[in-house]
Amino acid sequence: MVVMEAAFDPHWREAWTRRQVDDSLALSSGFMMLIDEDGREPAPESGAAGFILARKVLDEVELLLIGVLPEMRGRGLGRILLNSFTEYSRSVGAAQVFLEMRANNPAESFYRSAGFAPIGRRNDYYRTLDGTHIDAVTFAKIL
Ligand SMILES: CC(C)(COP(=O)(O)OP(=O)(O)OC[C@H]1O[C@@H](n2cnc3c(N)ncnc32)[C@H](O)[C@@H]1OP(=O)(O)O)[C@@H](O)C(=O)NCCC(=O)NCCS
Repeated sequence: MVVMEAAFDPHWREAWTRRQVDDSLALSSGFMMLIDEDGREPAPESGAAGFILARKVLDEVELLLIGVLPEMRGRGLGRILLNSFTEYSRSVGAAQVFLEMRANNPAESFYRSAGFAPIGRRNDYYRTLDGTHIDAVTFAKIL
């Protein structure tokens, strides 16, 4: 939650609450991946620098959220997380991985360079703090 609260600008209303995270992880489909500032799995007593929240349904895995602490960005942690997510998804039998992002998220180039391609768009799906509506773009990567 420390990373969640630091990584997402409240304006876009993308961050999840602890309750939402708990509920998603309480389902058998939900899982989380953590990374520390050295690119490893954090020791139980140490903090995380980044996370992925995801869910697996049948042979599809959806990345729900990815975040890295602002001061830790640009050091490859997001890429390590995304690669681990893809590898893990492949290892549990997923044929495709999906994610959805607001249409104006600069992370688009991050996803595209990792092999994700846009496959759909939902008009006005997100609503920002000031009430502006923004489309959602769905990306997929075939494994
Ligand atoms: C998206 C995010 C997780 C990337 O984490 P990161 O640790 O900075 O990513 P990396 O350092 O591994 O960068 C990987 C590549 O993507 C590019 N990249 C990463 N974030 C980018 C951004 N916001 N805009 C443009 N390019 C970006 C990097 O330049 C790098 O390119 P390279 O491999 O050619 O050098 C991080 O910017 C973040 O937490 N953003 C806020 C939360 C968010 O919007 N999440 C996505 C929606 S759920």
